[in-house]
Amino acid sequence: MSFKEKIDKNKLPEHIAIIMDGNGRWAKSRNKNRMLGHQEGVRRVREITETCAELGIKYLTVYAFSTENWDRPKFEVNALMQLLVVTIGKEIKTLMNNNIRLETIGDTNALPRNCVKELQKAADRTKDNDRMTLILALSYSSRWEIVDAAKRIAEKVRNSESDINEINEEFFSYNMCTAKYPDPELLIRTSGEYRISNFLLWQIAYAELYFTDKYWPDFKSEDLYEAIVDYQSRERRFGKTGEQIKETAG
Ligand code: IPE
Ligand code: IPE
Ligand code: MG
Repeated sequence: MSFKEKIDKNKLPEHIAIIMDGNGRWAKSRNKNRMLGHQEGVRRVREITETCAELGIKYLTVYAFSTENWDRPKFEVNALMQLLVVTIGKEIKTLMNNNIRLETIGDTNALPRNCVKELQKAADRTKDNDRMTLILALSYSSRWEIVDAAKRIAEKVRNSESDINEINEEFFSYNMCTAKYPDPELLIRTSGEYRISNFLLWQIAYAELYFTDKYWPDFKSEDLYEAIVDYQSRERRFGKTGEQIKETAG
């Protein structure tokens, strides 16, 4: 039985988040330039996006470029930005055909102007699509997002739009750039690294974490099915006892 057949359609995560890592090592292991790994990585983004939409996943967030990635060699940063512009332009059609909305999170003002323009165009064109939302985390880091939310809240309190006693977890979430999305239930990281690298720290408080040794360019649909099957085998207790969970399920 394939992993796909093992998936329980009634227990799908609504939101999957992915730290797509290992493009550079994938290329290096083939004696190729790192950029070739990024190009192959883009193919996997397309494949995994379509697979998620077919399965009925409602939100897919992919970590494409972190705040810390700005510190990479200038030529790699520039090449990645160029790849982003070309890819977004090319993919609008596929997103429309698949009824997928494209959105971004992160400090997008830090991106080159032509990237921002392409992203805005894609977001505008796809805004009424409602099968799935693909969220690109670009120039994103969780600490940046949390500080940004704190600033917004401070501003509201200063302008007397909000009262300090209103600030609770829900209010805080509402002021983050992920406000519109439910928290991811499943977080996948490829490439054999066991860390979060400043991704969605607030939102993954209760996510199930899945790590695989595969480099991102090798992560195919079958690997996604395997991750989902693994996720479905876990008991999500949210602080309660296993007995309590079984009682409510039964
Ligand atoms: C992930 O692959 C893509 C980005 C961070 C842009 P890497 O480029 O980090 O690949 P490795 O980790 O060096 O193999
Ligand atoms: C995390 O990968 C960021 C993205 C996938 C965009 P990195 O390759 O930047 O992470 P570290 O530096 O190894 O933790
Ligand atoms: Mg990496």
